[in-house]
Order: sequence, then C-alpha cells, then structure tokens
Amino acid sequence: MRRVGIDAPSRSYEVLVGDGILKSAGELIPQGDEESIMVLTDRRVRAHWWDVAKQALSARGRRLALLEVNPGEGSKSFTSAANLLRRMARRSIRRHDLLVTLGGGVITDLGGFVASVYQRGIPLIHIPTSLVAQVDAAIGGKTAVNLPQGKNLAGTFYQPASVIADTSTLSTLPQREYVSGLAEVIKYGLTLDPNLLTLIADVEAVRNRDAGFLEEVVSGCAQLKGRIVSQDERDTSSRAVLNYGHTFGHALEAHGGYERWLHGEAISVGMVFAAELSRELGLASEDVVAEHRRIFQMHGLPVSAPFDPGEIVKRWNMDKKNLRGQRWVLLSDLGEWKLVGDVGGAQIQAALRRMAAA
Ligand code: GLY
Repeated sequence: MRRVGIDAPSRSYEVLVGDGILKSAGELIPQGDEESIMVLTDRRVRAHWWDVAKQALSARGRRLALLEVNPGEGSKSFTSAANLLRRMARRSIRRHDLLVTLGGGVITDLGGFVASVYQRGIPLIHIPTSLVAQVDAAIGGKTAVNLPQGKNLAGTFYQPASVIADTSTLSTLPQREYVSGLAEVIKYGLTLDPNLLTLIADVEAVRNRDAGFLEEVVSGCAQLKGRIVSQDERDTSSRAVLNYGHTFGHALEAHGGYERWLHGEAISVGMVFAAELSRELGLASEDVVAEHRRIFQMHGLPVSAPFDPGEIVKRWNMDKKNLRGQRWVLLSDLGEWKLVGDVGGAQIQAALRRMAAA
C-alpha cells in the first residue's frame, strides 16, 4: 500500500492506495468519536462492494447505515442531496458522525456536498471505486451537484479526512468507464508529468488492470493533484491545469445531453482541441498535437466528435469558470502548460475547423 499526503491549506490527509485495502477500511480510517457511520453508494457499486465495505466498517463497532441512490449523473442533483439530508436528519445523525462515500465521481461529489452542508460539516471519508474518482474526483475537496443550467454549478470546497483507493475495486468497472478514466491519467501526463505517459504506454498492463501498475498510476496522479491542491486549494490560479481540455469537454458533454459521451471521452476530444488551439497560437508544435492524437487512440479514446461549433461555443460561455472571460490551459510542450486569456475568435474558429477536418 502507498500513502500519499495531501497538504491542502484547510486540511492535511492521506490518500491510501493499494490492492484489496477496502477490507481493512475499518482500521485505515483515522480514529474518530462517531456513533454512526453512513455509507453512500449506488445500486451498481453496492452489488459488488457493499458486503466487503460492511464487514470492514463493522470492525469499528458503530451503527452502520446504507444510503443508496440510483447509478448515474441524474443522482447528482439538489433533489438527491435534499433527500439524503432529510434521511440523515431522520436518523438523528450528529456532527461527529461519519459519512463514507463508496462509488465513482457522482457519489464522491454528491456525498462530499452533503457532508459539507449537513450541520455545517461532518467528517467525510472517500472510498472511490472508479478510475476517474481514484485519480481525480475524490482528491482535493471539490464537491458538487448539477443544475439544469449546467454541470457542477453548485458545490463547496470540503476536504475529506482520508481517501481509501482500493485498486481491486476497478476490476468490476465496465470497460468503457475504465477507459474513460484513463483520459484523466493522460491529462496529468500531458500537463504535469510526461513519465505517466510512458507508464501507461504499457498497453498490456492497462488492459489487464494489473495491480502493481494501477497502484503506481493512481498514487502518481494523487501526488500530482496533491501538489496542485496544496498551492491553490480554491481554484483561483494553478488548479486550472486540472481542467485541461475540460472547457471543450464539458461543452461536448452538455451538447450530448450527458448521455452520449462519458466525461473522459469528452475531455479527450477537449484535450485535442486545446492542443490544436496551442498550435494555432504558435505555442505548441504539430508534433505535440500529433502526440495527443496518438496517445488517445492507443487507448481507444476519441480524438474527434461530431459537433455544432456554435452550440459548443454557447455552452462553454455558460461554464462557471468563464464568467469573467475565457482562460485557456494550453501547452507549449508535453508537461509544460500555461494559462492564456484573450484568445482571438479567429484562432478559436481555426482550431474548431481543424477538429472538424480531423
Ligand atoms: N477536477 C478538477 C479539480 O479538482 O480541480
């Protein structure tokens, strides 16, 4: 098992990464004086992992309750959050009680939000079971619910007390979701550490979901994210790098009604667009753009998508990060990023055209 320290200004905690560590969760979770532990999960994850989690958490000798929501983005809503808060109040959950999330990014975002507002904040542990959640969503304290007007438009910053990333839980992840998670790993590789790209070039290890390989990848990403979150917990400067490809990606997800594209698929196309824009601005070479396409294609991720350019631009203008003008995370080379404002419409249109032509 690897331990990665996250030193966020509001709280320091550890991300524990290992194969089969869920069964020791009862001992791995920091000691607390909770009387109740609620576990938030969805129906699909429950079928695979609740028995293991239940046995592990029972070792703490506390009252244990299961809170279940439907799988999928539809559960990341104010309605679900309000239902969960009411259920917690009906159970007389108190401020020292513990909320454990067991699931993918929807569950960690929703559970984090609920934990942060119930009685102004109760202890929170994330047990992420998807690759996206293990390398990104569960780390760094962003919580969210969606609004009809857009994804993640309401949320809080609320750090967990610990993250337990059991890589064996990825064995039950549907292949399309696993591959989608690789896009976030590639994002870290393209922007912050090209060594990760070398690591995941081992397509056999990727395909086999090899335990040692996953431990190295997940802990490597946690380390990179921890470094960024320690500098900019509240996302006012360098944390923007974690959204590489996300402006286009979120717009594409919304364009597809959140059903057509998984998050990782949409941001893969978004990262190719960001590389094209970097090239248009004379920052990056054609080779950097080609490398983006090669890496995504090697892992079966999309590098283009049918889209209406006008609709995409309208959608990204709605993005909460763009209210005071668009800032783009762009690359000058692999592992070298910068934040660029005031990009001309002509260059954006040219990059969009290159996407359509690809
Ligand atoms: N997922 C992007 C961030 O945590 O900032």
